[in-house]
Amino acid sequence: MVNRYRAQLNQWKQQGRLRTLPKPLAPGRMHEQAESPACILCSNDYLGIGSNPAFWKAFLEQEYTLLQTDSYGFAGGACSSRLLTGNDTVCEEIEAFLVHAFRMEAALVLNSGYHANIGILPALTTRKDLIVADKLVHASLIDGMRLSQATVLRYPHLDMQTLEHLLQRERHKYDQVFLVTESLFSMDGDIADLKALVALKHQYQCMLYVDEAHSFGVRGPGGLGCAQEQDVLHEVDLLLGTFGKAAASQGAFVMTRSEIRDYLVNTMRPLIFTTALPPWSLRWTRYVLGLIGSMSDERAHLAHSADMLREQLAQTGLETSGNSHIIPIFIRDAHKAILCSEQLRAQGFHVLPIRPPTVPEGTERLRISLTAAHKEAQINSFAQACRNIG
Ligand SMILES: Cc1ncc(COP(=O)(O)O)c(C=O)c1O
Repeated sequence: MVNRYRAQLNQWKQQGRLRTLPKPLAPGRMHEQAESPACILCSNDYLGIGSNPAFWKAFLEQEYTLLQTDSYGFAGGACSSRLLTGNDTVCEEIEAFLVHAFRMEAALVLNSGYHANIGILPALTTRKDLIVADKLVHASLIDGMRLSQATVLRYPHLDMQTLEHLLQRERHKYDQVFLVTESLFSMDGDIADLKALVALKHQYQCMLYVDEAHSFGVRGPGGLGCAQEQDVLHEVDLLLGTFGKAAASQGAFVMTRSEIRDYLVNTMRPLIFTTALPPWSLRWTRYVLGLIGSMSDERAHLAHSADMLREQLAQTGLETSGNSHIIPIFIRDAHKAILCSEQLRAQGFHVLPIRPPTVPEGTERLRISLTAAHKEAQINSFAQACRNIG
């Protein structure tokens, strides 16, 4: 009965596409639990919060003090969906915090970015609707589109002209139209022109859905993301942020209008039919959210590190793209990408190869994601290691 799976596994191995779980990282997640620790260059801990034990310690101390008081609630599991008994007060505090920070009408906390993206579009669309998405949006958005009953069209990555032609041709055939994009693309490190998308949204009367998973915490003056940075926060109809990356926690949120939030609460299956996030995790998220707004120095350091590394990689003649802390180095061959990753590991750098189906065939790459914890010396040594392997 397992022959089919064995054959497929063997084929993936031959193609250089077999995925295996890497070794667990050491506590603090700055290096592997190996004798020769490596500098991690593939974590989404963009502000360095998850790898800084001081934050965790301060959080535990604060919680321990609260624990001494009678008012401290049960902090284990949520034990049911938010619609049953799992709706923790901390979850509502986080939503109130986000509403205040974004100055948008409503926030809805969800269990993960994946849950959010597979749930929102199916909940809000019908057969009469159209979803138009950037060709390179994340797998979770693709799964959400697959689960929805709407017609789905894709436009070439960041190509606003083709998107406009598409809307000119198709808009009149549909009831509602949803424009879907990431703001900072997770595998390419480039950034959507949200102003152009907002203009098209108005011209063709669409809803704009922006996934800020990789920009929340990192971009914009208060770390709210690219919509804040591009000054279009209040033009985005559905703004998704995650807690699992720069916020070093778990979960996600969508900022939207109150009626849409109410509608999602009534229809969104990955909210209704799953156990809510555990209260202890929500408490950590609440603690971290209190830090992010004031971490401008970390954001500036991260941006500076990214500029520096991009420049050095360009001097080495390596092909990269984008203009953010996520830097792909295109290798364009799965086996070579694995080899480069192994050679970099031997020089003390942990960088993973990204291969199909995560990225299109022929665009195999190493994905470097910098964090605010990386020091200038580490970045220089990494650029040198890249030169060494050519
Ligand atoms: C653009 C984007 N959206 C959503 C997600 C899913 O977020 P989460 O890890 O919270 O499920 C990811 C995860 O990598 C992502 O890159």
